[in-house]
Amino acid sequence: MPVKLLVLFYSRSGSTEALAVAAAEAAREVGAEVRLRRAREVAPASVIDKSEAWRREADRMNALYPSPETDDTLWADAILFGTPCYFGAMATELKAVLDQLGPQWKKGQLAGKVGGAFASVSWPHGGSEVVTMSLYAPMAHLGMIIVPTGYTDEVMLEAGSPYGASTVVGAENRPPREEDLAAIRHQGRRMVQIAGALSAGDAMRG
Ligand SMILES: Cc1cc2nc3c(=O)[nH]c(=O)nc-3n(C[C@H](O)[C@H](O)[C@H](O)COP(=O)(O)O)c2cc1C
Repeated sequence: MPVKLLVLFYSRSGSTEALAVAAAEAAREVGAEVRLRRAREVAPASVIDKSEAWRREADRMNALYPSPETDDTLWADAILFGTPCYFGAMATELKAVLDQLGPQWKKGQLAGKVGGAFASVSWPHGGSEVVTMSLYAPMAHLGMIIVPTGYTDEVMLEAGSPYGASTVVGAENRPPREEDLAAIRHQGRRMVQIAGALSAGDAMRG
């Protein structure tokens, strides 16, 4: 059975999206089934419409990626969360998805699933590590098996952090560097590898 990976992200201007897409591609290359889901805006339309770029990018991405549904989290063997860093915290849009998982938490339905996180920031010390680690807390509460990237591949020496891949986009919102893409690709493959090993162990135990 192929590993099922859910890449659940929010992105306002495409940087976190680029990481999410790279993770999905890498996971598919190693045989996983992947669902890419974009959390939807929670800001009022009147606010979004004041930014031509926000409105345009939200419409573009929403046409490409379905909204996350409960079924997606239940379907997945592994969930990779991606968020921009907003004032050192995850995007409200992603938190809103997490905050709807109460019924699944109560039934323990996400327990044992493999979890990981990645982030986008504007500045080198803008909070990528803290925001990535902030996703560890809900994963722990849900009983997920948190898989950090560590330095499990030499690409992690050049980008991201031991907690997860990341990209630093600057005020001009630069595209992720090749090194950033290599790190998120490694993370996507690693999620699949660990989830696959856990499934194989379960199958052996019957
Ligand atoms: C409300 C808000 C708060 C932000 N706070 C931070 C911050 O604390 N540190 C930082 O480096 N960048 C910060 N940024 C910049 C975003 O992290 C950056 O635009 C984002 O990572 C780009 O990702 P995206 O293209 O996927 O939306 C902030 C942006 C917004 C809109």
